Amino acid sequence: MMQVLTLIGVIVASHDAALAHAVGHPITHELEWSFEPWVLVSLCAAIFLYTAGTYRIRSEVGAERVLDRWHSVTFALGVLVVFIALCSPIDTVGEQLFSVHMVQHLLLMLAAAPLLVWSRPAIAFVWAFSPAWRKRIGRFWTGAGLGGAFTVLMRPLTVWVLFVGSFVFWHLPGPYSWAFHNEFVHAIEHASFFLTSLAFWTLVLEPSGRRRLGYASALLYVTVTALLSGLPGALMILSPRALYPDHAAGVAAWGLTLIEDQQLAGLIMWIPAGAIYIAAAVWLFVRMMQDTESRNIHIRRSATVSAMILLLPLVLGGCRDEAQSSETHLGGSPKRGATLIGKFGCGACHTVPGIEGADGLVGPPLDHMSKRVYIAGVLRNTPDNMMTWLRNPQSVVPNNAMPDVGLSEQQARDIAAYLYTLD
Ligand code: HEC
Repeated sequence: MMQVLTLIGVIVASHDAALAHAVGHPITHELEWSFEPWVLVSLCAAIFLYTAGTYRIRSEVGAERVLDRWHSVTFALGVLVVFIALCSPIDTVGEQLFSVHMVQHLLLMLAAAPLLVWSRPAIAFVWAFSPAWRKRIGRFWTGAGLGGAFTVLMRPLTVWVLFVGSFVFWHLPGPYSWAFHNEFVHAIEHASFFLTSLAFWTLVLEPSGRRRLGYASALLYVTVTALLSGLPGALMILSPRALYPDHAAGVAAWGLTLIEDQQLAGLIMWIPAGAIYIAAAVWLFVRMMQDTESRNIHIRRSATVSAMILLLPLVLGGCRDEAQSSETHLGGSPKRGATLIGKFGCGACHTVPGIEGADGLVGPPLDHMSKRVYIAGVLRNTPDNMMTWLRNPQSVVPNNAMPDVGLSEQQARDIAAYLYTLD
């Protein structure tokens, strides 16, 4: 800890000295902003699509169901962090100081990416389009094989290798120097950081219900990543040699030595970056505990219910009344619903109790639909949301494998009524 403080002290102190003797040096360290047109255009387009999509979801599906206020807040913060990383003096000073360059990389990978992933931009972006266009996009996505390619790319092992691989690769002295001297390679470096981080955080932060990685595996996933991405940082702190000599001139302008700059970079990679991974691990751990707890409650509840059924046959009558009243509330006919489920071929993808031949394994089994907390892991399980899902599965969760089969409102109501008889 003392070492850290001393180092920070050295840097703060040398900063004044640097200001004094940098005059006349070819590298000035004025805090300049850099407004790359393509960065600004992409950010503006993203903000426009997200806002339009959120607005449409709220007016068509109802507010707060798919994208609530917190999603908008994290989106705004994510965009702000990208803007600060790529346009603020962090970008210009990062060309001189290796440590500041590391701050930029970490902002993109460990701050902007998780914030943006949390805000569910894919859902918002798709909803920015009209229903006809949403359908066209969905068809193109599956038709052009993009959906399949995406599924393969999003396999946890693939994502992990790409994420850790690009992090380690671009911080090796050779590739780093290459990107340092070539604007185009530099852009590819940043793009690979950003895209692999989006994929990584998608797997870590997915909502329960449609997670590709369970909480326990995700916890291991994050921990191993944290350990491995700490390695370049450790190397920077411990190496007696200056590994990134390209910064020699820039470092001198700030009155630092290459080694000091490099050690500071190592510290930044180690402490703040480590803190973010720990925070993610704690979040996963808490979710894992909550998950286990709610499952236990469920088991306890079903145990109580079976005990009551065994002991008091009268209770059964009461339960049935309740089920019937929820059906009338929905206004659909479970009987017609059962026929429609057969007619629309839902059984090709779903195992549906009580429907003959409905033993598909593409989607989740539709047993216990009345007990689920979420539909497809994103919508609260209410009758209204169920109808929204059945009629627009592609708009709710773009690119999922369930097609929009064109149900009318009454048909969706009937099918929902049947699904809610399943407990
Ligand atoms: C081509 C395959 C396919 C067909 C056909 C299909 N589904 Fe699905 N369905 C899926 C997939 C995949 C999911 C999971 C989507 C997700 O979680 O993103 C799903 C999810 C669901 C869910 C949410 C389940 C849960 O566990 O939250 C319901 C309800 C549902 N489908 C009902 C139906 C009904 C009713 C039909 C017939 C009108 C139907 N599906 C037709 C593939 C299909």
